[in-house]
Amino acid sequence: MGEKRKIVVTSALPYANGDIHIGHLVEYVQTDFWVRYQKLRGHDCVYVCADDTHGTPIMIRARKEGITPEELIARSHAQHLKDFSDFQISFDNYYTTNSPENKDLSIKFFEAMEKSGAIAKRTTPQLYCEHCKMFLPDRFVKGVCPKCGAPDQYGDSCDKCGATYGAEDLGSPKCTTCFSQPVVKDAEHLYFELEPQHEYLEKWIQEHTTSDVSNKLLEWFKEPLRGWCISRDAPYFGFEIPGYKDKFFYVWVDAPIGYIASLQNLGRLEMWNDPDAELYHFIGKDIIRFHCLFWPGMLRVAGFKGPNKVFVHGFLTVNGEKMSKSKGTFVNARTYLDNLPPEALRYYYAAKLGGTVDDMDLNLTDFVQRVNSDLVGKITNIASRGGQMLQKKLDGRLGALDADGAQLVQKCRDAAEAIAGYYEDRRFNMAVVEICRLADAANEYFDRREPWKTVKTDPETTRVTLTAALNAFRIIAIYLKPILPVYAEKAMKLFGETEWKWEGIFTALENCTLGEYEYLASRIDAKQVEAMVAAATAKPAETGEVAHESRPSKNKAKVVEAPSLAPEIAFSDFEKVDLRVGVVESCEIVPKSSKLLKFVIDAGSLGKRTIFSGIRQAYEDPSALIGKEVVFVANLAPRKMSVGVSEGMILFAGEPGVNGGVLSPFASAGAGTRAT
Ligand code: MSP
Ligand code: ZN
Repeated sequence: MGEKRKIVVTSALPYANGDIHIGHLVEYVQTDFWVRYQKLRGHDCVYVCADDTHGTPIMIRARKEGITPEELIARSHAQHLKDFSDFQISFDNYYTTNSPENKDLSIKFFEAMEKSGAIAKRTTPQLYCEHCKMFLPDRFVKGVCPKCGAPDQYGDSCDKCGATYGAEDLGSPKCTTCFSQPVVKDAEHLYFELEPQHEYLEKWIQEHTTSDVSNKLLEWFKEPLRGWCISRDAPYFGFEIPGYKDKFFYVWVDAPIGYIASLQNLGRLEMWNDPDAELYHFIGKDIIRFHCLFWPGMLRVAGFKGPNKVFVHGFLTVNGEKMSKSKGTFVNARTYLDNLPPEALRYYYAAKLGGTVDDMDLNLTDFVQRVNSDLVGKITNIASRGGQMLQKKLDGRLGALDADGAQLVQKCRDAAEAIAGYYEDRRFNMAVVEICRLADAANEYFDRREPWKTVKTDPETTRVTLTAALNAFRIIAIYLKPILPVYAEKAMKLFGETEWKWEGIFTALENCTLGEYEYLASRIDAKQVEAMVAAATAKPAETGEVAHESRPSKNKAKVVEAPSLAPEIAFSDFEKVDLRVGVVESCEIVPKSSKLLKFVIDAGSLGKRTIFSGIRQAYEDPSALIGKEVVFVANLAPRKMSVGVSEGMILFAGEPGVNGGVLSPFASAGAGTRAT
């Protein structure tokens, strides 16, 4: 073996406001394969990661749940870590970006950036929501694409025509939180200038990304590089920028610094700038700009070493399509684990990952078939057939290899260099192909020697046969260890060993007794996949539901049962309802509907709202309602009805005892309002 390498490896830091899903796992699982391979080779390799905890979405999500951002990120951290460890992903440190180390480092980076003259102040017009009292990030505003006119597009780019633009260019913009129309306001912001590093970065990309990536990125350098806005205004959950009150670092500033902070928290900070250590980032193709442009620019200015390579992977598709909630293919890690074993997915991903930026498909039928035919039917089969026969019929004792068996074992060893190369190059799919080829050879050997026949007549020959088959399996299991660590651990115990390193393949086990045969892997069933998809399709359960107990009545007198109430809600739930007053601009009968009236409400700064309301029976002449004021729920998700989209809900107060009878609308807000 060559020299002992020092290697730092990272995966992108998952956002703390979402669950880990099978798309994320494409990344964490492949990084884990690679790290485990390096460790198996005896290298000093550390794998650091963290939750990415800052930014507007996290702040808003916490607000919606009525908890603090700190509570939200603590909860996510625990869940993420559990998901990862149940998927056998083993970090040396899984930290958080909301840490003292990260704050410190972020400030140091910024100070260095300022000192080098790379920070500029510029005033730019930005969308501001008067209601939410905040500047709107691109993803928090939707409107009409200025280029193609498509409605409902985010503030940075259009889904339909692919145009990129500034949010202030959108037609009829709406705040996605409160639906009101934002105003344009000037804001002063800090920019990290990149143009001074134009040549450096252009060269850097050629040297530090793989060619399938760099060829595309070089497009950026045909024009001057635009400065990158690195500040955000309060309210923001993040680190405040020293010297700039109420300004915060944009989450993408402190997120990659979080890699260093995690390494520091592990006590291995010195590794980052160690000239003898290697550094690699694994990322998905959606975050290339941050890792291959801004990040190397920041590192250079702050005097930190950059990654040797950024390894970029593509996106996961399921059955050839984008993951979809309605199709049940947007599967959370937990939902997968509730239905299927982690090894199956790890194995399948390995079998598909070729170390390129191409998207990767999880075909659910192929998944079941591959796992069953290869992992179970081919690979595990050698151990289960051979191991069980040896235990049951031959006292579990291995004999010696004969020439035939030695040849099989040698064949397995001869593949070592090729498999090592595939792992190193992240061509896990090729490693799996090679491993399956060896399993084929072992099965052929087994079948040719017919131990199930010879065991009756010639136990010692049978022992020789099984010794070769099991030694071949042992080598295969060592090769598989980065992909299937728990599986390999069990296999190791079968052979009564305590540690497996790569060189273990060069020893043969002869004349020794096997340990217990533990089940290694079992077949998976299409039904498990169906159950997983069904669970992923199911609507998320209402949060906070409470079992209802009727309150015991203290006196025996008969009480009139009140209509049963919906579950009690917390004040924080009520707070989520945004009630507004609007004027009825028009109100008309909906043809073919006995119940519905169609309202257009003029809601002032919110614009016009179309709302369908099922109160037709109460009014002889709907036009009498025109010009009246109504209270309505302004932040109800738009609902598609057969007659059109309803953009809210009007609240009416009724006469006592009337349900669908005479409603007196527009009574002043107070108790007894009934939602239509
Ligand atoms: N928080 C940022 C990363 C900051 S790194 C300093 C982020 N988080 S993320 O949760 O959206 O994504 C984390 C990683 O998972 C990214 O590398 C992303 O590309 C990857 N994936 C997220 N969804 C994916 C698929 N559907 N398929 C493959 N990878 C996916 O980005
Ligand atoms: Zn708003």
